[in-house]
Amino acid sequence: MKERKIVELKLISTDKKYTFLAVPVNSNFVEKEKENLDTPLNEIQSVPEIISQDVPEIASQDAPEIDSQDVPEVSLQDAPERVTSEQEILKVEGLEVNYGVIRAIKGIDFHVNEGEIVTLIGANGAGKTTTMQSIVGLIPKAAGKVAFEGTDITKTPCHKIAHLGMTQVPEGRRIFQELTVYENLLMGAYSNKDKASIKADIEEIYVRFPRLAERKNQIAGTLSGGEQQMLAMGRALMGHPRLLMLDEPSMGLSPLLVDQVFEIIKDINKGGTTVLLVEQNAGKSLAISDRAYVLENGEIVLTGTGKELSESEMVRKAYLGG
Ligand SMILES: Nc1ncnc2c1ncn2[C@@H]1O[C@H](COP(=O)(O)OP(=O)(O)OP(=O)(O)O)[C@@H](O)[C@H]1O
Ligand SMILES: [Mg+2]
Repeated sequence: MKERKIVELKLISTDKKYTFLAVPVNSNFVEKEKENLDTPLNEIQSVPEIISQDVPEIASQDAPEIDSQDVPEVSLQDAPERVTSEQEILKVEGLEVNYGVIRAIKGIDFHVNEGEIVTLIGANGAGKTTTMQSIVGLIPKAAGKVAFEGTDITKTPCHKIAHLGMTQVPEGRRIFQELTVYENLLMGAYSNKDKASIKADIEEIYVRFPRLAERKNQIAGTLSGGEQQMLAMGRALMGHPRLLMLDEPSMGLSPLLVDQVFEIIKDINKGGTTVLLVEQNAGKSLAISDRAYVLENGEIVLTGTGKELSESEMVRKAYLGG
């Protein structure tokens, strides 16, 4: 059996060169890996590090060192430009996304205020996932502006965005299938180097998700769909995001689990985390949302409070079964 090794990718910047280095989680560089570096370690330790949290399949690869020519240059000195009011945690303006000649997102505007739960509802193919992934820099934007807490992040690469305080739980959950529940949670603590606080955070996750506590040593790939959703949310919370973005957390779950997941989202929000939700389940999501937007064919066609939209005739007909 292949030996399992938890690794994270560290982005190492040496002048203009960027290198990804896989190192064991929560440890300092081991001797062998130091030899691979042609830069003194003290220089390296002074630069920020990342784990490619949004692309876990890359992060879990066992490659010792990956040269990445494509990683865009990031200037740490760039002063953030304040472009939104204080209470808007996320502001999206004129966002356009194309897949080749197909216009998937046709210039949408929406915002999320601090403390809110905001939902984008829409049918299959409306552009919900595309919107979310382009916000976090996983899909290129053709036009438009995105600001997080007043900072323009339109051109910020995804590995930097994860460090700003917004975390995405992607569609299909994307947990590390081969690792245990506990190891998956550890991966969510990528930016925390304090062992005691990581331990406390994991205990907190176990309190919120008792199912995960019971299964801490279980291989994540053998968890049920609902448990995997809880693990994905737990892992995201390990990074203490101020904005949590969830792409169809209710997908594929039994009605009972759907209710549980929405209760948990409400609870996370009560704890002070702002939530942007993307959902096909309009009924449940509107019921917990402060505000919502209806996305159809890449355009926002309606917006209002959760209550207003759940009472709207158009929403009732198209999304709530009459
Ligand atoms: N990589 C791609 N290449 C070409 N077209 C794409 C690609 N990804 C998505 N699309 C198209 O863009 C549109 C929006 O897709 P998206 O995945 O954002 O929809 P969605 O609202 O998340 O749907 P679902 O509820 O089914 O997840 C769809 O028509 C889809 O076929
Ligand atoms: Mg989707």
